[in-house]
Amino acid sequence: MTTLAGLPTVLLNFGGCLDLTKRNTKSCETGSLEDFAISSNMSNLKIKTIPYVNEVTCIDWKDGIKNIPDNVIDLILTDPPYGIRYKSNRRKVKHKSMKNDDGLYWLNDWCRELKRVSKPEAHIYVFCSWHNVDKFKQALAEYFNIKNILVWEKNYHGSGDLFGDYAPQYELIIFCSNGNKKLNGGRSSNVIRAAKMQTDNHPTEKPTNLLKFLIGKSTNKGDLVLDTFAGSFSTARTCKEMGRNFICFEIEPEYCRIAKRLLNDVFELSSLF
Ligand SMILES: C[S@@+](CC[C@H](N)C(=O)[O-])C[C@H]1O[C@@H](n2cnc3c(N)ncnc32)[C@H](O)[C@@H]1O
Repeated sequence: MTTLAGLPTVLLNFGGCLDLTKRNTKSCETGSLEDFAISSNMSNLKIKTIPYVNEVTCIDWKDGIKNIPDNVIDLILTDPPYGIRYKSNRRKVKHKSMKNDDGLYWLNDWCRELKRVSKPEAHIYVFCSWHNVDKFKQALAEYFNIKNILVWEKNYHGSGDLFGDYAPQYELIIFCSNGNKKLNGGRSSNVIRAAKMQTDNHPTEKPTNLLKFLIGKSTNKGDLVLDTFAGSFSTARTCKEMGRNFICFEIEPEYCRIAKRLLNDVFELSSLF
């Protein structure tokens, strides 16, 4: 199996669903993320003039995004508050309630700003639970082409009504495009299996291999990725690992502190060679 600088390759097209939990699968096509890494279409010079690039930015997205120029973002990959007063009770470390999770009053302003900062050809991935997927889809459709809803199948059932409801084992990712941007490496399944994170960095931390896969499908080295709800900065850490630039906003200082430590631990893989 080909590897990305010594790491196991992300697997593409695993049967009906894409399985990121398996390291060796004979029946699937494989491709290295390096295959996607063709030259950047934005010069480093231009990126250096944009604020917040490759930093831990502890700010409300509404304040941060105002300072981003129009048409500069190649990919938006973000995991907004679900709008359901989410509270995780299963972790050893008790986390605070999520800020701005008591409604989706910010949704339209947010989508308008995402549109403004996106390049004419850009991709957008928005994590979302089933509860409010209709509202997110409707708001995003005002500005972008909704291309698909990906299913992230997790190895985890969550807690809740053990006898009166089905166990939640997936999250949705609304996939949109601005313009007619193509995916790297051709078509892949819209069902992606990836193990949940087992850390206490953030109650809803997203798995690195899932983020790596999406970033690889939708960007090239040197591209600029925006995450307006960064949490533990999992998007930022994955971008750093993959040689992508990032702008990531998080409102909670505690998560920003954790992120600074975690980001310092990440090597950009290409810098090893
Ligand atoms: C679902 S979590 C994201 C978790 C992240 N994907 C990770 O892997 O760690 C949403 C995050 O958005 C943050 N948040 C809420 N309102 C915000 C705002 N107005 N600006 C910036 N961040 C905000 C919350 O503090 C929370 O950490």
